[in-house]
Parts: sequence; C-alpha cells; structure tokens
Amino acid sequence: MALEAETKSIVKQFEYTDDDVNQAVKEFLRQMSEGLGKDGTSMSQIPTYVTGVPNGTEKGLYMAVDLGGTNFRVCSVKLNGGGTFNITSDKVAVPKALMVAKTAEELFAFLALQIKKFLEKHHGDHFEQHIRRRMTVSSPDGFRDEHAFRMGFTFSFPVQQMGINKGTLIRWTKGFDIPDAVGKDVCALLQSEIDKLHLPVKVAALVNDTVGTLMAHSYGAPGSNGAVLGAIFGTGTNGAYVEKMSKLKKPVVGEYDASTGEMVINTEWGSFDNQLNVLPNTPWDIALDKQSVNPGLQMYEKRVSGMFLGEILRLAINDLMKNPDISFFKDENSSTNDLRSTTDIAEASGVYKMWGVDSAILSVAAGDHTPGLSLLRKGLDDTLHIHAAALEDAQSFKAIADAIGRRAARLSAVAIAAVILQTGKLSDPELKGEPIDVGVDGSLVEHYPYFREMIHEALRIVDGIGEEGAKRIRIGLAEDGSGVGAALIALVAAGMEKNASNADYLGELRSGAKAAAASEDNEKATSD
Ligand code: BGC
Repeated sequence: MALEAETKSIVKQFEYTDDDVNQAVKEFLRQMSEGLGKDGTSMSQIPTYVTGVPNGTEKGLYMAVDLGGTNFRVCSVKLNGGGTFNITSDKVAVPKALMVAKTAEELFAFLALQIKKFLEKHHGDHFEQHIRRRMTVSSPDGFRDEHAFRMGFTFSFPVQQMGINKGTLIRWTKGFDIPDAVGKDVCALLQSEIDKLHLPVKVAALVNDTVGTLMAHSYGAPGSNGAVLGAIFGTGTNGAYVEKMSKLKKPVVGEYDASTGEMVINTEWGSFDNQLNVLPNTPWDIALDKQSVNPGLQMYEKRVSGMFLGEILRLAINDLMKNPDISFFKDENSSTNDLRSTTDIAEASGVYKMWGVDSAILSVAAGDHTPGLSLLRKGLDDTLHIHAAALEDAQSFKAIADAIGRRAARLSAVAIAAVILQTGKLSDPELKGEPIDVGVDGSLVEHYPYFREMIHEALRIVDGIGEEGAKRIRIGLAEDGSGVGAALIALVAAGMEKNASNADYLGELRSGAKAAAASEDNEKATSD
C-alpha cells in the first residue's frame, strides 16, 4: 500500500492540466514575439535566410551532412522532382571524446575526414578525377567552385545566422561542450577542414534539423500548402516555422530573397521559459538541471526531450528505492514477489549512474499493456539489469514513466499550438478549412507509443484551436530532414549564388584556408 500511495504522489507531481497547457501557450506566444523583437531573449527566434518552402518540383544532386547528437551522417541526395528522391548515406558515431574536445578543429577535422571517406566510397569517379586534375593542372584562380558538390550542413545547435552559409555558435546543447567553438562560424570551421583535404565540396547552406524537417515535409507532400512547422522531438527538441517578415522586428543582416515576404524562423524553443514563468518544476527537474552541463538553460528541452526523460525517471525511482518505508525493487523474501524469486539489481545497473537510464525504457513501459507487464519486466532485465522485478514494482515504474512521457507530450503540444496560432493559418480564409501540416521527426515521435495522439488530445483543449481546429492539424512524420531537407536548402543556396553575379561566394569562407592546388574539373557534378 505504501508503494502505491507514494507512486500516486509522484505521478501527481507530473500531471499537466488543461489549464497549465493554456497558460503555457499564452506565455509561449509572448516569448515568441519577444524573440522576434530583439536578440538575447530566452527563445532565440533565429532568422534562417530561407525564404520559402519547396513544392516538390525541385531537382539536382546535392550533398548533406548532419551533426546533431550522437552520430555524424554524410549523404548525397538526388532530388528527382515529383516529390521523390534517392539518397545514399553513411553514419558514424561521434567519439565521446570529440564531443568535449579541447579545440573545434579536432571535431571538424573528424567530420571532414568522414566526408572524404564517403566521397571515395560512393562518388569515387568524380572524386579521383577532381584530385587528379588538381594535382596536374595549375591555374592562378584555383579550382572552379561550380564543379564542387553543394552541401547542406545540418548543425543542430543554436547558431546566430548571418547568411545562408554563415553562422556563429551561440552555445552547445545535448552534452556537447567545446568552448573553443562558441562564437565561431561553424560553416567556416568545416570548410577550412574540407579544404585541407582538398575535397570538391562547398558548404553552401547551414541548416538546423528543424528547418530541414520543414523543407523535407513540404517537398514530400506536394499538392499541400507546404508545412507550417517542422519540429524535432528526439534527443533534443526544437521547431522552425514560416514567419511573415513584417513580424520580424529585429534587424536581419546580409543577403536574402525578400520577394516572398516570409522567412523560416528557427525558434530554438528548447530554451522556452528558462526563467520558469510557467514550466513545471518537480524536485527531479531541479535535480536534473543542477547536474547538467548547462544549468538554467534549455529548460523546456529538459522536460520534453529524449536525452532527459530517462534521467528524470531515474531520479524519481531512486527516491523510491531509497525510501526506508517502502519496498521497491527489494523483497523481504521470495513470497512477496510474484515471480517467486527476489529482485536483484546488478551493481553496474544504469539506475545507479547519472544518465544511466536510456529514455527508450519509457517507450517500452508505455507500450506494455500485458496484464503481467512482461515486456517491461524483460526490458528492465535486459537494459537495466533489474532481475526478477515484482509485478507491483513494475507497475509503479510504469506509472511514473508514463506520467513523465505524458507530461512531455502535453508540453510538446504547447509549442505546436503556439506556433500554429502565431501563423494565423487556422483563421486564414484562403485556406478554407484545409489541413495544416506539421512535419515532425525524432525518437519520441517515432518510437514512443501514442506520443502524437497525446499531443493531439492536448491540442483540442487549447483556446483558439478547439475540437475543430485540432481536426485540421495533421502531424506527420517528416521524410528525412537532415538528408533531403538539407539538400533542398543547398539547392536554395545554389540559386542565390547564381543570382549574385560576381559574388565571391566562397572567398570569405576560405580566407583561413588557402587552396593548395589548382585545377579545372570538367565534370558537371551538381546540377544535372
Ligand atoms: C538544439 C536545436 C536542435 C534540437 C533538436 C536542441 O538541443 O538547440 O538546435 O534543433 O536540439 O535536435
């Protein structure tokens, strides 16, 4: 009984009521406007220099790379038009040591090396031809940029953009911490390492994963009005949406195509309400923030995204485990355990280690509807080395895990609702009741059972959306934001290059890294 009562009390603290949702939507809208007005606000509202979404007819061969969490991915993408594409990609884990390297160069040299390996493996002909020509032909102008692959660089951290391929790192998130890189132009850092290896690649566009998601979802759903929001609910969380330039009050320096009157804004909503005006703040949220690498920052992300949910759960169940008045994962003897054994937790179990509980266990818990919770108990055994967990303990574990997951989904609905209200699309007479498309990606929306359904349920109670509005909101899994989405932005950037005649597009990027060899490469690589 004591366990049940204690579990209920913990679950209650993760409850996020309809009133809480509505109050948070209002505050979210306020903080969005604040970020559109000036720099240095909690939600950064970063202009991306992308001024339109695709319609599915775009064509060409582009490269895309993605650094955003545990892996680095390199791809080449052939856009076929008609909303279809072919993609070739390789993925490597980013060594943990490089996530906290001393210098930015160490990390970016590793990234460039992976690009080289990819080109050798998948585009060997073009690559060798290029290298050979560079070795044998000399020209005072250096090699011709138009023969290089245009590459979209998905870099999923907060960056102050100054142009489509220019932006300085504001801060690291998601466990990365290389102070040397903060304040530096991440495109220049990558281009410089690419040039050191003489690769035929030009960093044409800097892409946040949410912007890629928005673009990919618009490309993959031709015929719709284009997605209004691209959002990630994965290791981290964030969203990008299409904003009217008239609402963007802070100055936007540098070149962009002003003809559409719109620009994609990277909200960086992971830092919504760092001041905790409305966010819930349980003892476990407080403990997690304290031990994180960035206390006081990314406060919304710390309650919503996959990197943190497992740790919130771990902290909460540790309190139960330590409670002397309660028997949780410890049996007096085998008679108190329905498995007729006693529970045993291995010393090396992740429950004893900070960040030791992977959020995937929340998905297992949420998806287990068996009467004996056999799936969850197997999960506890396999991943956390909690052997022979008793049914009532597994039930408590599930109740707490589900409460944390449900709160995350309802908080996710806050961001989605606020952005949709901000765009005014629901009341736009031109749309005549048509669907409003939201493209989402990330482990939570992909693998957490009913995450999208829980978001939808919360959207229905938001003032200004209601049952009718919620029916029109289509939350769809986006195709491949960091692949096809980044390629589409590289295409936009290539278009901007053509328009800017005489522009020494790479000049600034390359200032630090002199081209060592010169050659002409006649192969047409980028735009057939
Ligand atoms: C980063 C965002 C990113 C999001 C999802 C956050 O931690 O700040 O830039 O879009 O994670 O990957």
